[in-house]
Amino acid sequence: MCYIESMKKKVMLALICFMVAITGSFVIFWLTSHKNPVPPPDDYQLSENIPSTTEPEPITISLPNANPIYDIRLEYFAEDGIWALVNKTQPLQNQAYRPNDLVHTTLPEQKSGDEMTVREIMKTPIEDMAKDAKASGVELMIASAFRSYDLQKKYYTSILNAYGETEANRQSAKAGTSEHQLGLAVDFATSSQACRLEECFENTEAGKWLANNAHKYGFILRYPKNYETVTGYMYEPWHFRFVGVQLAVALFESKLTLEEAYPYLEQASINLVAQSTRSSQ
Ligand code: DAL
Ligand code: ZN
Repeated sequence: MCYIESMKKKVMLALICFMVAITGSFVIFWLTSHKNPVPPPDDYQLSENIPSTTEPEPITISLPNANPIYDIRLEYFAEDGIWALVNKTQPLQNQAYRPNDLVHTTLPEQKSGDEMTVREIMKTPIEDMAKDAKASGVELMIASAFRSYDLQKKYYTSILNAYGETEANRQSAKAGTSEHQLGLAVDFATSSQACRLEECFENTEAGKWLANNAHKYGFILRYPKNYETVTGYMYEPWHFRFVGVQLAVALFESKLTLEEAYPYLEQASINLVAQSTRSSQ
């Protein structure tokens, strides 16, 4: 009897110890888990800072010493684009190219026919420029603008026959390599006909006005003095090329020729293609 009583006490004691141990474990677990809650994964916090849509970086062209160009479009680089580069090493791909939007302007014309016409995109800029020049006492006339392949051939051949090949290549583009065929180049003259298509045109009021102001209307002096090794042509203070205001101003500020600026332009076109490929994926 006494033995049985003693066994009961031991079993009761063991049960109480077991219950205390279980309860203690629960209490310790509860306290530790609530004191140090599991932090959320890192990407949970990061995801709150990520905008739902990411805007692509704007593509710009920064020529040295010039304000950036923002208006960059792939169509500008096409054969009928305002940034098309045509020169001795880069002839027109389509030798028979002829713009389909040639128009006459209100400027006085020195001849008749489509040699006096320009691409429609530069009609307003050239007319605004001539109007402002006139307000400053300078009359601008068109000596030669669009030239077909055949007309350019006629001019080149006549200079070749008169002065020989070396001189002809300094003065005139072979057919298919003249930017006059783009309809975006103009040879200017002035009402007095002073220094018509001669280097001394730079000293006429018209030559000086154009050199200082043409860029504001989107035109560049295409073949500057002392750049024959770069452009391939002698100084032509009368020949201006329309490229649009942003590029014309940047070229004026940077003092680069179109040839020198072209690597910057081409890089921008590559970036533009890459960006549109990414955004379409
Ligand atoms: N005089 C320029 C270079 C032309 O013939 O196009
Ligand atoms: Zn010209």
